[in-house]
Amino acid sequence: MRAEGGGRAGWVLAVAAAGLVLAVLGARGGRAANPAELRYLERGREVARHGLDALREACPPQRVVVDDPYYLRTKSFWALPAACVLAQGFPPPSSAARDGNLFLRAADGYVRPARADVLGTPDAWVAYADAALVDTPGAPPRWEPIDRRKLDPGPFYVIWSGAEQNDPHRFPWPYQLVAIDLAPFDTEYPHLVPAPDASPAVVRGFGLFRDQCVSCHSMNGEGGTVGPDLNVPQSIVEYRPAEQIRAFIRDPRSFRLTSMPANRHLGNGDLDDLLAYFRAMAERKHLPETAR
Ligand code: HEC
Repeated sequence: MRAEGGGRAGWVLAVAAAGLVLAVLGARGGRAANPAELRYLERGREVARHGLDALREACPPQRVVVDDPYYLRTKSFWALPAACVLAQGFPPPSSAARDGNLFLRAADGYVRPARADVLGTPDAWVAYADAALVDTPGAPPRWEPIDRRKLDPGPFYVIWSGAEQNDPHRFPWPYQLVAIDLAPFDTEYPHLVPAPDASPAVVRGFGLFRDQCVSCHSMNGEGGTVGPDLNVPQSIVEYRPAEQIRAFIRDPRSFRLTSMPANRHLGNGDLDDLLAYFRAMAERKHLPETAR
């Protein structure tokens, strides 16, 4: 399941509307958008755009085998090294933002934050075809429908080949990728970031939350909608004792049957940092318009 999907419902209308606009444009003779095309944005403004052929030319494709968290089995894809794909749109020195924040934007409006330095590692790939359906890397892309909703994952699908990288909450696996936006995290989530003068522990806790929790949880109404908001109207640290929060985060199913995954990889220091972040955010409450 695309657990982050809860927030997508509202986009259905937007996508339907966009489809209508495209249909109207098409009827007036406008050129249909080439689906196998990747847009590169900086703070939402387009800085480059490359078709699949150009990307295949610049970034030699490889057959990559992954333990796929959406198909729930081993899959092989034709894929391009993500570091190379990034460099095609954000050449140096703009890739000086190598440790910067990216938003991976899908065709239906779904947005997944990702860190550029993580996406630049050799285990990150941008898949463009299912290698079980397409014999050669240069052939027209074909895909097996993905997810419970049986969607076409093209034009691009971010995949990870490293051991233990098949958790889509800790590593971004967005499908239907159409754009990569190099922009600070707070452009999309202004009320989720701690104060500029926050302590190192708070900053580390924020980093953990951003990388491992925000796909399901919001703070101040910003973020995922699978799990509850952890800050408003009451912060989790205001109604649960710290020890219970720590135990819950590590092993939620020891409390109740729930879809929240266990986090046994988090050490005591990580939990200290997460709690420091929660406490800091309890001082920075912002009730979203819709909840007022
Ligand atoms: C796959 C989605 C998912 C991810 C990822 C996730 N959670 Fe949760 N979380 C949930 C759901 C769903 C609940 C509600 C569970 C319940 O009520 O039994 C929950 C509940 C909680 C609660 C208890 C809230 C309450 O008031 O009882 C805390 C605390 C929490 N999550 C923290 C975290 C932290 C910290 C992370 C990241 C390390 C995280 N969660 C990652 C889905 C997720």
